[in-house]
Amino acid sequence: MSRLLIEHTEGLYGRVSIQGAKNSALPILTATLLCDDVCVIDNCPNLSDVDVTLDILSNLGAKVFKEKNSVTIDSSGAKNHRIAKNMMAKMRASILFLSAVTSKIGRAELCFPGGCRLGPRPIDWHIKALSKMGLNVRCNCNGKLFCKVEKNFNGAEINLPLPSVGATENIILAAVLAKGKTIINNAAKEPEICDLCDFLSKCGAKITGAGQNQIEIVGVDKLCGAKHRVISDRIVATTFLAATAMLSGDVKIENIVFDDMKVIIDILRRIGCTVNAKCDTVQIISNKKLKAPGEIITEPYPGFPTDAQALFMAISTISQGVSIFVENIFKNRYKHVDELLNLGANIKAFDKIAVVTGVRELHGNCLYAKDLRGAAALAIAAMAAKGSSILTGAEYLDRGYENFEINFKKLGAKIRRV
Ligand code: EPZ
Repeated sequence: MSRLLIEHTEGLYGRVSIQGAKNSALPILTATLLCDDVCVIDNCPNLSDVDVTLDILSNLGAKVFKEKNSVTIDSSGAKNHRIAKNMMAKMRASILFLSAVTSKIGRAELCFPGGCRLGPRPIDWHIKALSKMGLNVRCNCNGKLFCKVEKNFNGAEINLPLPSVGATENIILAAVLAKGKTIINNAAKEPEICDLCDFLSKCGAKITGAGQNQIEIVGVDKLCGAKHRVISDRIVATTFLAATAMLSGDVKIENIVFDDMKVIIDILRRIGCTVNAKCDTVQIISNKKLKAPGEIITEPYPGFPTDAQALFMAISTISQGVSIFVENIFKNRYKHVDELLNLGANIKAFDKIAVVTGVRELHGNCLYAKDLRGAAALAIAAMAAKGSSILTGAEYLDRGYENFEINFKKLGAKIRRV
């Protein structure tokens, strides 16, 4: 367990450049397995989840070379179809190898994925869709998954019950090399889906409709290599925006895709922050006297992202008035609530609703992070709290944030790993 010592911080000032998006990099790196030539992925964040993905690729037989934020992958020699349980268990995105490995090698043997525990995270929609495309997917009582190509590996029309990000990605990864046309109805529209499709299109895939309700993919015989730059991470950008709003200050956040963040920026303006946008830079100025955000309802993109829910709950704890959160995406994504209560927040949570009444100030305490975005929210709440706090479970941050405490320290935060 890794720990952060966080002391009360009076304002953040300066500039920070946003890293590449974790949730783009992971599916794109997985997709390189499907390519017959070398791929170069730039702006790839240095994260523990990225390292796990690269380890899996190496174990499958790909040649992987990483230098700073650029990764070169040659999957032409990948022949292994098995992924060990310890690797699968480290993150949710490992499930994307189900279709990538099967499509490349004809069969796959892996396990159920791990990842942040946000309530039940089944993979039934992934399995149902791949089965409809002619893949035979079985699981045994030890949590092993076996998948193989039956006689025909064909495109199909898939209707997703909800726009699942992971299921949409798994279907895309299967469909690009399947025979014929695949249509995904009710597809996820997240910018990270569009980034994956942009990469695959550079490799020769035929995809239309990414970012819309319906994605259409016509399978091709082979994919070539390509060079691609991962988009910037909208949730990391949201973290710096939320921290500046809560602690006060004046921060310029560079390398942002403004259009992907409209819903976040609208709320920050509504609660009393000044937000100026110019090209790929957003400046946020906050004087800390914030109004409560009111109602925050998590929804699939372009709605308010579930990954930003904990961050805005942290802000609400010291904003004037009452905020109501409705978590619609995951069943158990309020694990940060008890920890915020330990800082002196006033929150009543039941099922998917949380009601937060702003208090005058928070007070430092010992905190335990239980998931990635919850850890970030607790870190910024601890910076806002009077006195000092110890945050245990800081390794969650390393899954999604490059140099979390170093970047915050540069802006004036009193934070260090102990
Ligand atoms: C992705 O998870 C992200 N992870 C999550 O980010 C993000 O919170 C989530 O999408 C929603 O935006 C990655 O991209 C690696 P879903 P994913 O499938 O794909 C249910 C972070 O902090 N469902 O869109 O797992 C599911 O249980 C992480 O960076 C089924 O019931 O999310 C959930 O309630 C955490 N059956 C809902 O759909 C299925 O087969 C949405 O999940 C699939 C999903």
